[in-house]
Amino acid sequence: MKKLVLLFLLAFRGWLGFSQSDTGSSLPAASGGSYALVAGGSKGIGYGIAEALAKRGYNLILIARHLDTLQAAKKKLESAHPVHVYILAIDLSFEKSADEIAKWCQDRDIHLKVLCNVAGLGGSKDYLSFPLDSLRYMVRLNIESCMALSLTLMPLLEKNAPSYILNVASMAGFAPIPIKNLYSATKSAVVFFSYSLRYQLKDKHISVSCLCPGPVFTKPEIIKDTKEKLGWFGMKMALDPGTVGEVAVKKTLKKKLIIVPGGLAKISAFVIRLLPRRWVVAFYGRAGKKKK
Ligand SMILES: NC(=O)c1ccc[n+]([C@@H]2O[C@H](COP(=O)([O-])OP(=O)(O)OC[C@H]3O[C@@H](n4cnc5c(N)ncnc54)[C@H](OP(=O)(O)O)[C@@H]3O)[C@@H](O)[C@H]2O)c1
Repeated sequence: MKKLVLLFLLAFRGWLGFSQSDTGSSLPAASGGSYALVAGGSKGIGYGIAEALAKRGYNLILIARHLDTLQAAKKKLESAHPVHVYILAIDLSFEKSADEIAKWCQDRDIHLKVLCNVAGLGGSKDYLSFPLDSLRYMVRLNIESCMALSLTLMPLLEKNAPSYILNVASMAGFAPIPIKNLYSATKSAVVFFSYSLRYQLKDKHISVSCLCPGPVFTKPEIIKDTKEKLGWFGMKMALDPGTVGEVAVKKTLKKKLIIVPGGLAKISAFVIRLLPRRWVVAFYGRAGKKKK
């Protein structure tokens, strides 16, 4: 049995990410004046992605609601890397935001090469115990803003091709999760949207990737929830936002479609996607009831 496991790990070591260095040195660096837009880039995974892009010479446009965190992110990135960072305080859940952002970029003839749709909202016990307004907000932020920005910024991405779109979904997008019903539904929409968009944009030389991380410790409630619901395995699978950002950018520039950072998360995602959905929903249903 041990030999079998060893053989499996050896055969799939590249796919599992054990054999890769994190330097990204063989990947395309930004040519002078290239920009990457990170929607939700002021903190968490979005900041990790922004930092990995800045490391590769991309100037940045960071979008979030709160100006203070945006300013702090700009200061940190510009002092650590020789890049220029624009910040825009905009709520991405508003219907007009995508058009406003695209106009802002077009007016300045921004040389946009990378669009990262990161901002999203999760949480547990959604749907049955959330008011309709909060559910609508989640759908607007998680799906609509990603769909709208990809469309309104497509002319710029096409003009500056080869270019990249990175949509942030979640491992939750591979499975129906009763306690995160609408969250997993919105993330599976982002996964499917990315598959089809990649196919549709191939001829335009815009590569589409979709990041599907397991738990990422961006805030204390995620640590608590992971410990309670997924136990030892979840804690082993969890990653920090800097590592996730680095893997996401490296694989996006390598034109990978589905990106699951971390060896354990990759194995779990592989198994989850193979199993019948009714087994998966029952497993997550039981895990969700733990220590309520
Ligand atoms: N953390 C995890 O365990 C995990 C796992 C899998 C997938 N994900 C996904 O990864 C993405 C980022 O998660 P995270 O944990 O890094 O989140 P986070 O730490 O809360 O950061 C979210 C970012 O998006 C911005 N944002 C939130 N709502 C916004 C809005 N309405 N308009 C504009 N900007 C907005 C935030 O800034 P402001 O608050 O200032 O607006 C911040 O920059 C989400 O899509 C999430 O579903 C997270």
